[in-house]
Amino acid sequence: MTTNVVWHKHEINKSTRAESLGQKPRVLWLTGLSGSGKSTMANLLEKKLHALGKHTYLLDGDNVRHGLCGDLGFSDKDRVENIRRISEVAKLFVDSGMVVITAFISPFQVDRDYCRKLLADDEFIEVFVDTPLEVCEQRDPKGLYKKARSGEIKHFTGIDSTYEAPESPEVHLQYQDEPAEQTAERLYTLLAEKGLL
Ligand code: PPS
Repeated sequence: MTTNVVWHKHEINKSTRAESLGQKPRVLWLTGLSGSGKSTMANLLEKKLHALGKHTYLLDGDNVRHGLCGDLGFSDKDRVENIRRISEVAKLFVDSGMVVITAFISPFQVDRDYCRKLLADDEFIEVFVDTPLEVCEQRDPKGLYKKARSGEIKHFTGIDSTYEAPESPEVHLQYQDEPAEQTAERLYTLLAEKGLL
């Protein structure tokens, strides 16, 4: 625990930055199993928002684990630390005025709630990319389910590591049978209709 540190209040703050960017900073937190389509959805949504002039940043599990979280594995303890770090980073981006999209399995409700609690009430939007395990396993884009089933990978989400589905996500996506572009468009429309953009 850090001690003897004092918070500095700066004159340029979240509101000032958001005002000059002309947008409401938020975190659009995508959660779901490996292979559920989080990264694809996040990428398409970011493209759409970017084209509309929003200032965005996408934090993606595989990418962040190349750097900031490169020292973490997939034990429950490491996943908790992974999401804690991402939450703090997301909070910094929100403070900078950005619309942040995150694509992490983020398997535990308590950790997703940790991020929610770091932010103001309307700044955290939980999006459940609800693709069933059987479909994710059939897709198996990286061959990881096969490795998990054969025991080559341990602690794989949905196989021998828990995934807790969101209790009350702001958006629930269950459209695994349609093209990703269509679902991303739906996601955008849902967010816009709910006034979450
Ligand atoms: S977590 O649970 O939120 O900390 O995971 P995350 O940081 O999103 O990383 C998930 C990606 O890591 C790859 N991978 C694994 N996923 C789950 N379980 C195990 N054991 C594992 N090992 C490697 C996998 O490519 C995940 O990417 P996605 O995009 O979710 O498929």
